[in-house]
Amino acid sequence: MKLGDLIKNPKGFKVTGIYRVSRFEVKTAKNGKAYGDCLISDQSFDVPAKYWDIPGDMVGLFQNNGLLRIEATLDYFKESPQLTIDGVKIPLQQDIDESLQSLGLMATHSLESMYTRLRTIIAGVEQPMLKQLLMHIFVENKTFAAKFVRHPGAVKNHHAYIGGLLQHTLEVAENALAYCGHNARINKDLLVSAALIHDIGKVREIDIDALGLPVGFTKEGKLLRHISLGMEQIEAACREIGVNEEINVILKHCILSHHGMPEWGSPVEPMVMEAEILHYLDNLSAKAEQFAREEDKVEPGEFSKSYLLRRDVYRAIY
Ligand SMILES: [Fe+2]
Ligand SMILES: [Fe+2]
Repeated sequence: MKLGDLIKNPKGFKVTGIYRVSRFEVKTAKNGKAYGDCLISDQSFDVPAKYWDIPGDMVGLFQNNGLLRIEATLDYFKESPQLTIDGVKIPLQQDIDESLQSLGLMATHSLESMYTRLRTIIAGVEQPMLKQLLMHIFVENKTFAAKFVRHPGAVKNHHAYIGGLLQHTLEVAENALAYCGHNARINKDLLVSAALIHDIGKVREIDIDALGLPVGFTKEGKLLRHISLGMEQIEAACREIGVNEEINVILKHCILSHHGMPEWGSPVEPMVMEAEILHYLDNLSAKAEQFAREEDKVEPGEFSKSYLLRRDVYRAIY
């Protein structure tokens, strides 16, 4: 069942299903016994859950598995639902793949088909230096390419699922290509290249579990964030290939400025037309995804309160 529907049920209601364990800590109860304090999530809702008197072998199970088959009993604390866990199991592999899709923890398109789209975009780049750079990063560096294809696009905010980084990158790059068809002033190769590389630093920024789901930030992710990590990677790739200084500095500027302003994490505002367009296309992809996620939490005709968007989102009845 959708966790968002828990509230429609009375105390004592039994819940069974495969859910994401998005937080887990072992704490000590007033009686001195250990209990598991967790947050169980699906696409629609995060619900706190307690596993009282948790056996030692179950601790490892929670720590090593981002997805578990959970049996629990519904309770209420200050009118908010919470769960008491009765039992957990590791789901079967075929159930894991299916659950990742149904819980919105996997990109909607297959990773393979999205990687083909990425290579098609690179094949369409005419400027030899840029094409060589993109091939170097996304095709020839097989270790990085394999990570990039599966990586989530965020810890929480948008595209926070397996393949989310690639899905977001494709949205930005394909919208860039479409927009170039309406504006002849844009340097298409530059904009598309900047779109493809703008978030590559997220591979080092976001920490993932064994399934590939985001669990937080890595140490360097916390300390340096994806903009500077991406800049570092592009600088190294440009030096390796011998990309000229002008392209090198403009690409780095596009990465540095893509969040638009200092309050949003960019130390400089876009000063090149392609960088400004990249910022808008990046924001467009993020906002559309955030709206979709809010809509998923409610039924048509209902409002969802969005902390991220700082407003209510209405799911229209069509
Ligand atoms: Fe970004
Ligand atoms: Fe982005």
